[in-house]
Amino acid sequence: MRTTTRLLIGAAIAGSASSTPLSSRQTIQCAPIPSPFPSYSQLPVQSSLPDPFLPLKYTTLDNAAGSSTFAQDIMAGKGQHRVQSPEEWYKCRQPEIMQLLQEYQYGYYPDHSLEKVEATRSGNTVNVAVTAGGKTGKFKATLSLPTGASASKPAPVVINIGGMQNAPYLSAGIAVVGFDYTSVAADSNSKTGAFWDVYKGRDIGVLTAWAWGFHRTLDALNLTVPEINPNKVGVTGCSRLGKGALAAGLFDTRITVTMPMSSGVQGLGPYRYHGLSGQDETLENSKSGAGWWSNSKLGTFVNHAENLPYDAHTIAAAIAPRALVIDQGTGDAYTDSKGTAIVAYPAAKVVYDWLGAGDKIAMSVRSGGHCDMSGFTSVLPFVQKILLGTPTTKNYNDLGKYGSPMTTAFPWATALPTSKAS
Ligand SMILES: *[C@@H]1O[C@H](CO)[C@@H](O)[C@H](O)[C@H]1NC(C)=O
Repeated sequence: MRTTTRLLIGAAIAGSASSTPLSSRQTIQCAPIPSPFPSYSQLPVQSSLPDPFLPLKYTTLDNAAGSSTFAQDIMAGKGQHRVQSPEEWYKCRQPEIMQLLQEYQYGYYPDHSLEKVEATRSGNTVNVAVTAGGKTGKFKATLSLPTGASASKPAPVVINIGGMQNAPYLSAGIAVVGFDYTSVAADSNSKTGAFWDVYKGRDIGVLTAWAWGFHRTLDALNLTVPEINPNKVGVTGCSRLGKGALAAGLFDTRITVTMPMSSGVQGLGPYRYHGLSGQDETLENSKSGAGWWSNSKLGTFVNHAENLPYDAHTIAAAIAPRALVIDQGTGDAYTDSKGTAIVAYPAAKVVYDWLGAGDKIAMSVRSGGHCDMSGFTSVLPFVQKILLGTPTTKNYNDLGKYGSPMTTAFPWATALPTSKAS
């Protein structure tokens, strides 16, 4: 059944970055989100990155109607009913991507409006307690404040899990906060930790649970640490924790800059083109090695990753227009550093550019291996630009030894939708 929503643009996108004048009063009708969501067998095999502008409804095989070139066509940006304007992206497609990522990968993020967050501070420790549905989960965060931070001059903050290079951030006037991610959700199938104390039984991935930990930490900082500015916030972590940091940036628009380090598959390593660096983290081995990172639905795409109607670039694009800086080391083949740099990043940047937010996405290709701490210094100038307004001359569109984007991986980018509104 088809349902349509009619809304005036001005009303529909209040608060977004749009500059479309209210006087252009055009109705935007969102494509209905398929319900139930299509299974892998109802979706075409797409060997290159799916077109981020094509609504899910027009991606399914029931649109093929005997066409033998349907998959080729949609990969090339020739699908029907692509979103036509940034207004339509923010009104329709970005929310649809959020839905489909939760359906196919992350599990459904809990309703924060039903939660009560309480926090107490003792020195540099903040104790966090979250209650919902009569259940409470507790964990701790630890503060490192830069010299001079005060309630009248609060510092921006980077919240991390698993540790980071604190000193250059503190020197730059940025607070560093860590929380004990294992006590939010164990990195295992045990379903233990504060998140599961509240939400046991839900089909949600541990990456989403960690993301929730970042957000509840931010709530607690806002309640108890006036020396921190809760409106200037970075999130980071490396490897599996980088996948978690990406989820943290995705699910909360309060996050100003998302900093996934060496994140790989289920992070910003593409499901397609996974072997470009010579080693091979894949949907299959990530799901069999640590199936708990995602929901169970992602498991139905094992051996069918090319049926996924999204890829890493879609996750990145859904964060726009907020800032994203991506770390990868050239010595890190397993997480497909090359694939992130020449496939996922430039494909996401096409969307950021199209939205007029091209200066908010950055690729940091550095030397060194997996989770090398130098990654944190490498992304710092971009983080300072976003959180402190400090200009930088560093070129974050430089793919280093990887050279230039693999444009054959995103052929739809040569046929970008143009706004009918203008
Ligand atoms: C901090 O708390 C205040 C008061 O509840 C709220 O209005 C504000 O939105 C919060 N800020 C963030 C960043 O959560």
